[in-house]
Amino acid sequence: MIKSIQINSEEEYRRAYKNSVENPEQFWDDVAETFCWRKRWSKTLEWDFSIPKVKWFLGGKLNITENCLDRHLEKKANDPAITWVPNDPNEETVILTYKELHSKVCQFANVLKNHDIHKGDRVCLYMPMIPELAIAMLACARIGAIHSIVFAGFSSRAIARRINDSSCKMLITTNEMYRGPKTVPLKEICDQALTDCPSIEKVIVYNRTKTTCSMLPNRDVFWHSEIEKVNDTYDAEIMDAEDELFILYTSGSTGKPKGMVHTIGGYMVGAAYTFLNVFQIKPNDVYWCTADIGWITGHSYIIYGPLCVGANTVMFEGVPSYPDYSRFWKIVEDLKVTHFYTAPTAIRALEKQELSFVKKHDLSSIKVLGTVGEPINHEAWEWYHEHIGHKEAPIVDTWWQTETGGIMISSLAGITPEKSTFATLPLPGVQPVLMNDQGNTIEDQVAEGRLAIQFPWPSMARTIWGDHDRYKNIYFSTFSNKYFTGDGALRDSNGNYRITGRVDDIVIVSGHNLGTAPIENTIDEHPMVVECAVVGFPHAIKGNALYGFMILYHFEDTSEKLKLEINDLIAKDIGPIAKLDKIQFVNGLPKTRSGKIMRRILRKIASGDTDNLGDTSTLLNPEVVEEIIAGSL
Ligand code: WT7
Repeated sequence: MIKSIQINSEEEYRRAYKNSVENPEQFWDDVAETFCWRKRWSKTLEWDFSIPKVKWFLGGKLNITENCLDRHLEKKANDPAITWVPNDPNEETVILTYKELHSKVCQFANVLKNHDIHKGDRVCLYMPMIPELAIAMLACARIGAIHSIVFAGFSSRAIARRINDSSCKMLITTNEMYRGPKTVPLKEICDQALTDCPSIEKVIVYNRTKTTCSMLPNRDVFWHSEIEKVNDTYDAEIMDAEDELFILYTSGSTGKPKGMVHTIGGYMVGAAYTFLNVFQIKPNDVYWCTADIGWITGHSYIIYGPLCVGANTVMFEGVPSYPDYSRFWKIVEDLKVTHFYTAPTAIRALEKQELSFVKKHDLSSIKVLGTVGEPINHEAWEWYHEHIGHKEAPIVDTWWQTETGGIMISSLAGITPEKSTFATLPLPGVQPVLMNDQGNTIEDQVAEGRLAIQFPWPSMARTIWGDHDRYKNIYFSTFSNKYFTGDGALRDSNGNYRITGRVDDIVIVSGHNLGTAPIENTIDEHPMVVECAVVGFPHAIKGNALYGFMILYHFEDTSEKLKLEINDLIAKDIGPIAKLDKIQFVNGLPKTRSGKIMRRILRKIASGDTDNLGDTSTLLNPEVVEEIIAGSL
């Protein structure tokens, strides 16, 4: 466990924070020095948000897997690194010690090398939550290849788009995956995707469900047979601190998904430092984050952060409802989980079930609870606090983003004060500001505005793969010399931040970040649809759900069947998570004189808040508003 960078009291937090603002380079030097580098950096930071350019630990050489694995072998070789809980409760939990994980990662690194994967090549991973996913990602990092993990709920077209965007050379997947009582044919989905992916040369298939799947000669090989051909030693490739570690796609409010690029040195320092301090991890703790590794939470807080500090990280293959809604709590009891980190949408879904699902399990091992992904409402917070945290365990409400790489605003468990519905205080090294509509920084302590960050932090994304201009436009053009988060926030008299939600056309549905524009593009492909607009509206469990308004060519067919077809199309093009909860066929959409759809009005209608539509005088066609309200669902 890295001791020296752990904050142990509120006073230490205040001191660290002050230090990090007054002397950021010294502050991060001290943190970075506790890691294992092949060569020390010669310059700590170079930055210019107007380009934008951000580089940390310049000239430093390292391999992140030596920090996640090798350096623990001396003292923790036989300690659990990953504790894997399979989907089926009757299948045994598997513990991989640091030594075992190290050996499997080296072994698979040799497989990658055998298939001509080299430093800088992109490898796409489309896999369920099994240890082989962790092994494959770490093996990529060990040889210096860039992993691009695509959540195994995305459709074949969504995979193809991501593979092509970063021209991945290899795809790693499984024959099928388990999902509660069902299986999903991942390889089949990949095969569909690969009809349109010229850059893919090899596919490695892990046989998870012991059934056959189609294999294309010369392209597809099985994981099991490949690892038999290699040994388990592999000298880690020596990488530059600013070499790319991974690409992770996140929805944009317009156009195609953004391939956020994270680089090795800064990301590692940020993920590990925040993990250790926010969760206050101690030796022998059992830490469980329920996210999927296909999202940034899984990258930073199932794999890289926990392994970097030598923790025992739980990986769960299944779903909270299988075989019944007590599954999470059974796992907590069985493994004596000390740290439990999940999303508000999961808390709300579990809260709606019989309390007996919780009560029949002993949750006394829980020391710290965490939440991430969207604002947590007070009711869910209270339920979590009372029933899961037995009114004692601190709850860390961690605000951050795919782009920030690590937690930015959060309390430190049991160290700094918490406040329900507030993410609370910025972590050391994070300098948030609130901006007003004129684009100026709000100086008042108590304020509400758009949340921006005015100084670089090590784990921030460096660019969007292949499109640095887009990176600049989205994040660095709204406010001069600041990173714009896309979120609104308010600040109380103690400096605590409460995130109020997205202020752009991104909707967070069940903790998944979805751009409305790409969904609209998909709907527009339906031959019956002339034009459409998608907005979010509040939903009791999902946080937000999607509402689509559409104009049709032939108004005769407004059937349920058409609605199903539209949702099918969305599921195929993007994934089932982007399906609409409500579809309303309309004669017109409210537009400004310049022809822009007034989403503000549609958002109000979708949330049933039609008394107060605000100014509609600039509308080209005010008459459609009444009609839409009358037909609203
Ligand atoms: C957006 C980023 C960071 C991992 C999961 C999501 C929202 C995230 C919180 C929180 C209120 C939150 C923001 C942010 N968000 N955490 N604790 N309180 N809102 O990553 O998919 O990149 O989404 O999630 O709106 O901008 P992401």
